[in-house]
Amino acid sequence: MEHVIRQYTLEPGALEVQYIEECFTEFSGKKTAEEIIERLKDRDHLILLSMAPSEDDDGVLIPVSYKIGHELRAQETNLKLVDLVGQLRDVVEFPNRRIFYSWIGGTRTEWRGRGHYRALTEQQEEWAHANGYHELVVKTKNRFYGMRATFDHLNFDVIKFQRHLKDNRESKVYLSKKIAADVLRQHQTTRSVVDAA
Ligand SMILES: CC(C)(COP(=O)(O)OP(=O)(O)OC[C@H]1O[C@@H](n2cnc3c(N)ncnc32)[C@H](O)[C@@H]1OP(=O)(O)O)[C@@H](O)C(=O)NCCC(=O)NCCS
Repeated sequence: MEHVIRQYTLEPGALEVQYIEECFTEFSGKKTAEEIIERLKDRDHLILLSMAPSEDDDGVLIPVSYKIGHELRAQETNLKLVDLVGQLRDVVEFPNRRIFYSWIGGTRTEWRGRGHYRALTEQQEEWAHANGYHELVVKTKNRFYGMRATFDHLNFDVIKFQRHLKDNRESKVYLSKKIAADVLRQHQTTRSVVDAA
């Protein structure tokens, strides 16, 4: 199966992601387009959505999975990113290396288990490699078992565990994947990528 992926520019992509996140029950803090634009506007970023035929009308492709990532610098000013870099500093080498943070993503329930997230992750890796990045990092929580299992299948390594003092299920898990040509050779999905608005 060939995955159809759309690569979006900032404003239309932020709106698409705000819209698709409405379909997720897992997310408590859904991102608004405004928040997404604020985070991404002054940094290198990638907004990808994977498409599938709508269940109502087979001819129409709708977004079913999404993934946003952005560059992560050693010196950040955004408080959340300052904290993130602080957590990663002892496990990720920043000097003279480009680090890409895989920020948010997911697949709508009805379309899970069909490789959409793998396709988006592989596309993100291909883009990151082509754009000079050395490593992808991602953060999840202990209690997001499906997400953790997925990163396991996608060969991400756990690099740090940040224990939550009261509730271990809320503990944060940081993972990473070093990007090199051999990683791209192991990709399993076939993808066609089109530029959206
Ligand atoms: C996790 C999630 C993104 C996976 O999306 P998906 O499109 O179903 O994933 P894919 O079909 O591309 O699967 C990718 C790989 O992960 C594995 N996988 C996916 N979901 C899994 C699960 N729940 N348990 C175990 N393995 C899983 C697949 O088997 C596949 O491995 P393979 O290619 O080696 O066979 C999706 O279930 C989701 O959006 N979940 C909710 C998001 C969430 O919990 N977010 C918390 C905030 S981080």
